[in-house]
Amino acid sequence: MISSKNLLTIEDFTPEDILQVLDTAVSFKDVNARAIKKLPTLRGRTVINLFLEPSTRTRTSFEIAAKRLSADAINMSGSASATVKGESLADTAETLSAMNCDLVIIRHRYAGAPGILARHMDARIINAGDGKHQHPTQTLLDLYTIREELGSIEGKTVGIIGDIAHSRVAGSLCPALVALGAKPIVIAPPTLMPSRPDILGAEKSYSLDDLLPDLDVVYTLRIQQERMDESPFPSLREYAMLYGIDSKRLQAMKPGAIIMHPGPINRGVELSAEAADSPRARILDQVNAGVAVRMALMYLMLGGEQSGSVA
Ligand code: NCD
Repeated sequence: MISSKNLLTIEDFTPEDILQVLDTAVSFKDVNARAIKKLPTLRGRTVINLFLEPSTRTRTSFEIAAKRLSADAINMSGSASATVKGESLADTAETLSAMNCDLVIIRHRYAGAPGILARHMDARIINAGDGKHQHPTQTLLDLYTIREELGSIEGKTVGIIGDIAHSRVAGSLCPALVALGAKPIVIAPPTLMPSRPDILGAEKSYSLDDLLPDLDVVYTLRIQQERMDESPFPSLREYAMLYGIDSKRLQAMKPGAIIMHPGPINRGVELSAEAADSPRARILDQVNAGVAVRMALMYLMLGGEQSGSVA
């Protein structure tokens, strides 16, 4: 069983917890490849998807995962919730609590919002992305993909490239890689580099071309224009010239190295069309793993012990 009640940050999970989620997800991957994908595991459980910031793949992935486990999954989006009427998050939490839900999955533009819910609710809470802070379930599916594609996580060098400063994806991926014995290196122009990348446990570099031949994983991030007040580089074209993966950089990659991206992609910026569609790209494998990993997580957090084996 998982040692933590909630998943607010990736540090809530020990390396053993993380590996347990990944191992369990392998069984759910098989279930997802069957014609009939539904299991009775979480029948009678209520899962609320509280997404107060835009999302397509993460919200859909959680919804599919909950439904495949037969939970009652309810979606609440920003405009549909009473937060637009000025209700505080603490009041929303108490309202949802009064409805006896078992799990709330929250995405919010403020770092720490999942922690506020956790303080006001008995239900378990999963952070689906809080501001620029963390996105732990993205990390779990990224780790799953790295392990599946490269055979192990330990000892791998993972270059995380681009908008590190605004990235909750990097915020949870770096510490998890360190916990599992891999080496994260954040690679970005100085204006997109956090002031203390060492806090994430990562080395830093401003030069992609120097490091590219050494990377086992080329993890590209989206330029998050919606989180920027001013332009951190002269143009997207200049950014792509220095940090985008194009056909020349595809050639410079180590044999067997893979390209990852959390999506959504800005084609022509962080990845050229050729790179995004190349055999090295594992972007759709990440999406596919996302459903299995979220099923595993819900199974272990909510129903595991009463339900016996996965399939
Ligand atoms: C990421 C997010 O929302 O933090 N996307 C995702 O969850 N798949 C990254 C991004 O928006 O660039």
